[in-house]
Amino acid sequence: MPDSYMEPFSAEVLVENIPREALTGSMRDFRELHGTDLLGRVAPFYHWQEARRHHGYWPYSKSTEEAPQPVCSARDDTGRAFRGVNFASQDYLGLALHPEIKAAAKAAIDEYGVHSAGSSALAGNTKYSLALERAVSEFLDLEHTILYPTGWAAGYGVIKGLVRPDDHIVMDGLAHACLQEGAYSATRNVHLHGHLKLEALRRQLQKIRARDTRNAILVVTESLFSMDSDTPDLVALQALCREYDARLLVDAAHDLGCIGAEGRGHIGLQRMLGDIDIVMGSFSKTFASNGGFVACRSPAVREYLKFYGCSATFSNALSPVQCAIVLKAFAIVGSEEGRRLRERLLDRAVYLRAQLRAAGFDVIGEPSAIVPAVVGPEALARMVSRLLPALGVVANLVEFPAVAKGAARFRLQVMASHSHENVDDLVDALRGAADAALSSYRRYHAVAAETRGKQAMGR
Ligand SMILES: Cc1ncc(COP(=O)(O)O)c(C=O)c1O
Repeated sequence: MPDSYMEPFSAEVLVENIPREALTGSMRDFRELHGTDLLGRVAPFYHWQEARRHHGYWPYSKSTEEAPQPVCSARDDTGRAFRGVNFASQDYLGLALHPEIKAAAKAAIDEYGVHSAGSSALAGNTKYSLALERAVSEFLDLEHTILYPTGWAAGYGVIKGLVRPDDHIVMDGLAHACLQEGAYSATRNVHLHGHLKLEALRRQLQKIRARDTRNAILVVTESLFSMDSDTPDLVALQALCREYDARLLVDAAHDLGCIGAEGRGHIGLQRMLGDIDIVMGSFSKTFASNGGFVACRSPAVREYLKFYGCSATFSNALSPVQCAIVLKAFAIVGSEEGRRLRERLLDRAVYLRAQLRAAGFDVIGEPSAIVPAVVGPEALARMVSRLLPALGVVANLVEFPAVAKGAARFRLQVMASHSHENVDDLVDALRGAADAALSSYRRYHAVAAETRGKQAMGR
């Protein structure tokens, strides 16, 4: 049968038929690779993934069949087609389809073609990329900006570019993968501290400075954490950095442009504009394009990163089309329309949080475009997730190691274009899926306990 005729997985499931691997294990189990067969040794991951996929418990690698709108057609990665309310896209202000942005993209194509054709360290800059650097700098009140091909590249590149093996990095334990990868590739002296725990950070800084006054310290955090939707005290963090001769890097990927009356995110809300040592971010959440940036006060840091921040230096620059899109997005973000879109986004986020709580879900963090609805055990969360396509929902499940073990959750992403009705549809479907999954989950455990009992008796 062709893919397009495959129905989404339904609630009728015989728990006896679910293989153990589909509901247990995590991606962490396959990170270590041993043996000489470089390609063959990745196969256990594939077998585990296939078991999950075949039985409908693999919610990753979905594709959309149209633009990221509030209601959207999609496919899971077995090709099963479904349509539903979309809370899985990070187009927070709904700019991906904005007529002015599409017009700006078309005009840039007509003028420049579609390619920057070089690294920004060589001849890949365009008048659009230079204007975008200025726009980011003005927006953040930090005079110097370097663009990167993605936000990931910005996070990795700024750390790898500035930190050397004898230096130290002190980082919130929940910092994004790009920050962690950058940190571990730059130095072995990476010290993780408890999420948002200022006192733990202070103790680590004290300890490091007590024995090392010769090397640099970089403190790394996010202004809005992407799995928990919470935010650190940036004023206190920057003050601690000054006290211990450290520098602060803040990743503003998820709140810049979409939080606060002016759209300056938590950096603006905490009146820290221009006062953070280094700010990095991504255009891929609010600014309708791939791309990232690092902004700082020092021309020396900008020039150093241009040539030593590897992921920009040795990578093709953002295309003129991408830069024109982001530039127009900044213009909208800074306009009255941007303010209205942010109000709408916040209204929808607050409404979603309230409706989820009223339906019995555990919602964590503060109101933002990210609404984490915690389910708990991975097996139960996978069972809920399996049912969502048939109930008309596109949503992302996140589980360990992206979040703590036993704290699997739906990381719902709200867009200004969502209506209250979209939210109601989502919450109804999630409640229905959770109820059905809970009964399968209990049966699954009862059957597993019975099997274990029989095995024990037979022994
Ligand atoms: C906190 C944070 N930083 C950086 C990134 C990477 O951004 P990009 O999608 O532009 O590579 C993300 C996106 O997942 C993120 O959540």
